[in-house]
Amino acid sequence: MKQIADFTIVGREQLGEQYFTLTLQHPDKLGPIAAGQFVEVEVRNCREVMLRRPISIHDVDESKNRLTLLIQIVGKGTRKLSELEVGASLNLIFPLGHGFAVAGERPLLVGGGAGIAPLFHLAKCYKAKGVEPTILLGGRTKALIPVRDAFVEYGRVHYATEDGSLGEQGLVTQHSAFAGEYDHICTCGPTPMMKAVGRYAMEKGMDCEVSLENMMACGIGACLCCVCDTDEGHKCVCKEGPVFDVRKLTKWLEASK
Ligand SMILES: Cc1cc2nc3c(=O)[nH]c(=O)nc-3n(C[C@H](O)[C@H](O)[C@H](O)COP(=O)(O)OP(=O)(O)OC[C@H]3O[C@@H](n4cnc5c(N)ncnc54)[C@H](O)[C@@H]3O)c2cc1C
Ligand code: FES
Repeated sequence: MKQIADFTIVGREQLGEQYFTLTLQHPDKLGPIAAGQFVEVEVRNCREVMLRRPISIHDVDESKNRLTLLIQIVGKGTRKLSELEVGASLNLIFPLGHGFAVAGERPLLVGGGAGIAPLFHLAKCYKAKGVEPTILLGGRTKALIPVRDAFVEYGRVHYATEDGSLGEQGLVTQHSAFAGEYDHICTCGPTPMMKAVGRYAMEKGMDCEVSLENMMACGIGACLCCVCDTDEGHKCVCKEGPVFDVRKLTKWLEASK
């Protein structure tokens, strides 16, 4: 069930220049949170940012009623959030959207940039089911792959960087681990990356879920600003996604952008 609540920031970590994490304490029980669900964060004291910002749930600590967000600084709102310190409060609407199925016995998780965020909670959910995923993380350089080491506990981790500063040089779809034997793929990251992963899965007839990051406003299916043209008609990415079965996204896969 959706909640709106003030959280207290109990941890903040800067990860290179562009990324930071915020660990947030909820006053009460969090309730169930699926991997791939997101929050709408209020950006306070910033006149230029009227709307909440959608951010994936990166990690959940049910025993302590805590959530962690992994945020990339890209504009006014995320910059303002990056200035918050431990002890400050942050208002969230959560959990929003429809998460990953946590399906398959040999899953491959493919993440790029800030799209790595929901894959951490997802890897933990697989591990809780007794399944060890293969995790392939990509970025232009090593510095643009945040939270590298934490994944190791939850799966077999591989890296692809365009400049070769970490793992194999090239795109994630060119990585040798990409061509392994999998029965389910989950991906989140830049649209061209997700489309390449989605097309590969379609060619191979493999199950594949993609987590779309369309621009959002309300986050609850009311304003229609996040609509995606799917094979089942127009769907609100905030409410009926952000995670979709790629077989329902053939128009999205075919579109050039
Ligand atoms: C479901 C969902 C989950 C997300 N999860 C995360 C996450 O875990 N971590 C994270 O760092 N980011 C995440 N994002 C992206 C994040 O919401 C945007 O980066 C953020 O809203 C930008 O706000 P801003 O005020 O800093 O940027 P603005 O000043 O509004 O814009 C700066 C630039 O960012 C672009 N931008 C703004 N919003 C988006 C968006 N939704 N997608 C792509 N580009 C955008 C703008 O076009 C502009 O070029 C997610 C987005 C969605 C829809
Ligand atoms: S953001 Fe308003 S309907 Fe999706």
